[in-house]
Amino acid sequence: MKILKILFGLVMLMFLFGACKYDFIVPEEIPVVDPDGSEISFSTDILPIFNNGNNCTACHKTGGQAPDLTSGRAYNALNSARYINTTTPEDSRIYSVPDPGSSHYKKYTAAQAALVLGWISQGAKNN
Ligand code: HEC
Repeated sequence: MKILKILFGLVMLMFLFGACKYDFIVPEEIPVVDPDGSEISFSTDILPIFNNGNNCTACHKTGGQAPDLTSGRAYNALNSARYINTTTPEDSRIYSVPDPGSSHYKKYTAAQAALVLGWISQGAKNN
């Protein structure tokens, strides 16, 4: 009888672990629109992240730490392969260096990081 119990237990274990469910890895959702439903705009969505309260421009200002993120210069300063990679947006330094999980001086909030990533995925336009 004991052997039966053990066998039954084994069968149940096989059911437990054998019930394979294939989960496809879904790529992280990238917002294709900003919260108001339109395309992410560099001037109205991204620049304020850098400038409001001197969030980034305290250091990333003209004559300060590169890239210069002040409103008149940020786009040109960022428009290079060093900072933006539209093929693999996650590899863009303007996204990855101040990522919420980084140890940068000032980090993006999760919402800001999503906006920056979304803007890059949409082609990093000067819009
Ligand atoms: C307290 C000063 C300070 C603040 C505020 C700051 N940074 Fe930086 N940042 C630096 C310094 C210093 C470096 C260069 C050394 C390093 O990478 O740690 C740097 C490097 C960077 C780089 C990489 C530069 C390169 O050429 O590779 C990026 C991108 C960047 N910061 C973005 C930002 C953004 C976006 C913000 C705002 C969310 C921000 N930083 C806020 C000081 C700052």
